[in-house]
Amino acid sequence: MDPGIGPRYQHGTKYQRGSMPTAPPMLGVVPPFKRYEDPLSYVELPAPEKTGGPGLWQAIADRRSRRVFAEEPIGLEQLSQLIWATTGATGGDAEHPLRACASAGALYPNETYLFINSITGVPAGIYHYEVLNHRLAMLSEGDFSRDVAMACLGQRYCATACVVFAWGAVFGRCAQKYSDRALRYVYLDAGHMGAQLQLAAEALGLGSVNIGAFFDDEVNHLLGLDGNAETIVYLTAVGTLKGL
Ligand SMILES: Cc1cc2nc3c(=O)[nH]c(=O)nc-3n(C[C@H](O)[C@H](O)[C@H](O)COP(=O)(O)O)c2cc1C
Repeated sequence: MDPGIGPRYQHGTKYQRGSMPTAPPMLGVVPPFKRYEDPLSYVELPAPEKTGGPGLWQAIADRRSRRVFAEEPIGLEQLSQLIWATTGATGGDAEHPLRACASAGALYPNETYLFINSITGVPAGIYHYEVLNHRLAMLSEGDFSRDVAMACLGQRYCATACVVFAWGAVFGRCAQKYSDRALRYVYLDAGHMGAQLQLAAEALGLGSVNIGAFFDDEVNHLLGLDGNAETIVYLTAVGTLKGL
């Protein structure tokens, strides 16, 4: 009996002694970054603040998934911190920086998109993060809060969050080195990003929740992703908390 697509993939991509797959000699074929040539506008992010907050151990102890958000917006400085803590440049060289989150082979296959609902001074819309310039490129302007909530199985907190992070996986960027095993790494990478974003949000006194339940094609459509070369893998909603 066919065990199903999941177990077949898991077994089919095992590393086993004596039968290691040879890596396809294709490194460098898929560009390391995505860049939109004609965005509607750019939002320059302030240099991220790297001090303050309750400290790592307290943030770990306090972290919870939070789904009830206040109406207050998040400041641009805090947004900059959240993005930097998740996927900002923290080392390496200027053209190929190492980033805040670990990534298999330092290939960073997951592109960061933002559904911005309520960030001080930033028009609502859909944005793409450019790591080399630490800035946002606006892809679409408007209120997409309801659309993203509907695309996430009607989870309403997506509409009341100040911002929803969305990670689109460029599988080829990872597969050019790891072949079929790359799928494992893309999801592991995304998990690191969601976890680190939650800790950063906690340290800033913000609420967050990771989202694995979504209609893939609907989120892809909102982001303009084709679902093949690049597809949505994970989202995290972040908002301000009541009573803080
Ligand atoms: C991969 C993943 C997917 C998740 N997807 C959702 C989701 O779609 N909707 C939701 O409300 N919570 C989602 N969560 C949050 C979990 O429900 C939550 O982490 C769990 O209940 C434990 O609670 P805690 O995070 O407060 O410790 C997800 C968490 C992970 C790690």
